[in-house]
Amino acid sequence: MNAADVPPVIKLEGVTKVFSTDEVDTHALATVDVEIARGEYVSIAGPSGCGKSTLLSILGLLDSPTHGSYWLNGRPVAELPASERARVRNREIGFIFQSFNLIGDLTVFENVELPLTYRGMRATERRERVTASLERVGMAHRAKHLPSQLSGGQQQRVAVARAVAGEPVILLADEPTGNLDSRSGRGSGTARSGSSSRAST
Ligand SMILES: Nc1ncnc2c1ncn2[C@@H]1O[C@H](COP(=O)(O)OP(=O)(O)O)[C@@H](O)[C@H]1O
Ligand SMILES: [Mg+2]
Repeated sequence: MNAADVPPVIKLEGVTKVFSTDEVDTHALATVDVEIARGEYVSIAGPSGCGKSTLLSILGLLDSPTHGSYWLNGRPVAELPASERARVRNREIGFIFQSFNLIGDLTVFENVELPLTYRGMRATERRERVTASLERVGMAHRAKHLPSQLSGGQQQRVAVARAVAGEPVILLADEPTGNLDSRSGRGSGTARSGSSSRAST
């Protein structure tokens, strides 16, 4: 196949997002057009409230645009059945949430393992993947801790490990280094592969 025939991993055309309540309509995104190729590393910067998290939620299939179109690997997302959206979220997208979203009553190890369990991965492979990704972020020594027993920066590193353990094609990170010291921030930045996008500030 010719390189020109490869569709962008992500293509948005005229994407808007309006949050409507009884009282007000909040226009979070106004006609976003963007194309991101495989292997590209994109940062989105802007003041708080400008719509970065909203855009990442749409890119991560956690929310849908009000208007406009989103093609993921050349496929129109709006036409994917719910089961296929769930499969894509689990297999192809790694999401590091601004608030980490770790599960409080699961250990560090179990938090990183859970998305792999959902895929039906065998226990031995899960253990290898979880251990390797915790080592990558320097958190292997805290595998048996609960999230509440960690600092903010450590929780963030676990969230990074969970997102990369599944080797996603797309890594979406919402303010991924906000709680990290500069050394571990750099470490996780260079640990990325494939196509990744991140929002900062
Ligand atoms: N669920 C929601 N309901 C109503 N308004 C929302 C919702 N989520 C976000 N917004 C509004 O959309 C705008 C963009 O929010 P957000 O994407 O979180 O910004 P950022 O991540 O850039 O700080 C803000 O004005 C926010 O108040
Ligand atoms: Mg945000």
